[in-house]
Amino acid sequence: MRIIQISDTHLSPGKAHFADNWPPLARWIAEQRTDLVIHTGDVTVDGADVEADLQHSAELMRSLRARFRAVPGNHDVGDAGSDRQPVNDGRLQRWRTHFGPDRWVEDVGDCRLIGLNAMLLGSGECEEATQARWLETVMSDAGGRQIAWFLHRPLFLDSPDEGDTGYWSVKPKPRSQLIELARRYPVALIASGHLHKAHDFRYDRTRYIWAPASSFLVGEMAPPMPGEKRLGAVVYDVNGGTLEAEIVEVPGLASHWIDDVAEEVYPRRDR
Ligand SMILES: [Fe+2]
Ligand SMILES: [Fe+2]
Repeated sequence: MRIIQISDTHLSPGKAHFADNWPPLARWIAEQRTDLVIHTGDVTVDGADVEADLQHSAELMRSLRARFRAVPGNHDVGDAGSDRQPVNDGRLQRWRTHFGPDRWVEDVGDCRLIGLNAMLLGSGECEEATQARWLETVMSDAGGRQIAWFLHRPLFLDSPDEGDTGYWSVKPKPRSQLIELARRYPVALIASGHLHKAHDFRYDRTRYIWAPASSFLVGEMAPPMPGEKRLGAVVYDVNGGTLEAEIVEVPGLASHWIDDVAEEVYPRRDR
């Protein structure tokens, strides 16, 4: 069984700066004969404030000839601790209206794929505690399956012990709780998006994959960190209990740089 992970499409009917990368991505997905597409967030340019972005992007996802699951990114539902766009029940409700649940489980072969809403981590919202209890339950009743997590924001950049990296990775407190859980069960794979970089590495018994974006690359606006600045997607092949993964090129994607259009797409007053 083949699963495709895509990430950070940043789609919008009003801000179509990266729209030209959707047709080649959709064409490539159709060629893969995949059973499931997983989108790891920032589906939209600004679904957190513009419902038309959510509606438009969900229509595009439904136009794929494949079933899909998605977890939200900061641009879809807002972020924990954000003054301007805090994640909250209203934003989560809008996401669920267009994309379905923001956390989910898919059992594929002998693997249990778990989608998590990383935007809740460190938010203090009731939903954060509810998700934590739910996660513990779906981990404990995995019944010996291999476990893989899919979430928007990576747990860490360089090391699980690093301090607060701000915008770029999960805050140290929720991170350490998740790392402890990932050790206890154990989790075979943790796949994320958000950084618009490709990276594939191991830490302890867990493989970490940073899925590249299909929309744009980030130049000087991002601090130095591991990973490769390239666009693309990730292909997973599930054979029984083994989960193979490969970060791949998607033919026809144009290498946009956010630095060139940041003031139009994400004006400084909004950042
Ligand atoms: Fe993004
Ligand atoms: Fe993001």
